[in-house]
Amino acid sequence: MSRIVVTGGAGFIGSNFVHHLVSQTDCHVVVLDKFTYAANAASLEGLPGARVTVVRGDICDFDTVEEVVAGADAVVHFAAESHNDNSLDDPSPFLQTNLVGTYILLEAVRRLRVRFHHVSTDEVYGDLPLDTLEKFTDSTPYNPSSPYSSTKAGSDMLVRAWVRSFGIEATLSNCSNNYGPFQHVEKFIPRQITNLIDGVKPKLYGAGHNVRDWIHAEDHSRAVLAILKRGIIGQTYLIGADGERDNLHVLTTLLEIFGRPADWFDHVSDRPGHDLRYAIDSTRLQQELGWKPIHGEFSEGLAATVSWYRENEDWWRPQKEATEARYRAQELNLGKVGR
Ligand code: NAD
Ligand code: TYD
Repeated sequence: MSRIVVTGGAGFIGSNFVHHLVSQTDCHVVVLDKFTYAANAASLEGLPGARVTVVRGDICDFDTVEEVVAGADAVVHFAAESHNDNSLDDPSPFLQTNLVGTYILLEAVRRLRVRFHHVSTDEVYGDLPLDTLEKFTDSTPYNPSSPYSSTKAGSDMLVRAWVRSFGIEATLSNCSNNYGPFQHVEKFIPRQITNLIDGVKPKLYGAGHNVRDWIHAEDHSRAVLAILKRGIIGQTYLIGADGERDNLHVLTTLLEIFGRPADWFDHVSDRPGHDLRYAIDSTRLQQELGWKPIHGEFSEGLAATVSWYRENEDWWRPQKEATEARYRAQELNLGKVGR
């Protein structure tokens, strides 16, 4: 493949994937990104101009998509509205980008006969009980809880329908929670790291018993590239690195790194409909495509991520104030009827 379009390439995982493509392949990368609040142009700084073209455009805009996709060998689709809390406050951009945007891309790859990979989340499966060893597999029924996860579930269904009805060449992946460099400060780990850098107490939803299955964004990128190269058309691959931790555990690990007492945090209002536990069974990906995570030890990856945020304050500082203001407004809106 010599020309790969990466939608959402200026966001967290998309930008990690662009760096991965540039270092691991010799293809030309075209980033298609609307540059919403979640994007950061600085995430793409330092990449060779001869290898990366950045197009500022909306995946919901038919003409832009058609122009960018023409001549590409593949489209890897990361662009989305991605934050559950925002989706509870205002679902509308989630429906537009995650559903309509995916539909526009599918129509373009169908007409132009371009290989498509759809990046999705394990949250389409809903949640698991806290006290079992059960994990999500690709036969777990869809049962999404939030506007975010339900629009991602809908987008997965669209991709499968376009494979079956129109014969497009597509693969799908559903990954667990990512962490690592370039993650927006609205998300759990970077929010607490940057609070701690600022001497502000971290904010924990509820009792902190909710479990997430953490994977480093580089391991996610490695899996997506393996699927793009060797995945079976129409197949869904679950991506996870056996990184289950409850939120309280993650928080106390961060507090330890910053030399703060284990109870130095605020309990804040819980998220409505808060999913209890996610856990991924990635056997198919490991056995069929030979993928294995390289960021084995979560505490090491977390410490490296703390160092990254300490060393890259210029990257996150401009977003911090507005993000916390948005959280304060959402706290006031909790329980109010939507627009
Ligand atoms: P992000 O919010 O950091 O980045 C999303 C990017 O998409 C931003 O650069 C934004 O500008 C762009 N975008 C949004 N709407 C657009 C539009 N209409 N047109 C073009 N670009 C648009 O998200 P992320 O955390 O990097 O997630 C990327 C993908 O991975 C999403 O599809 C998400 O569902 C999926 N995913 C995320 C996680 C996670 O832990 N963050 C886990 C599994 C799957
Ligand atoms: P988040 O990073 O928003 O990812 P997701 O909702 O996709 O899992 O949240 C991860 C977990 O952390 C989730 O259980 C909610 C919790 N959380 C907090 O406890 N405090 C916070 O400030 C945030 C943003 C999240």
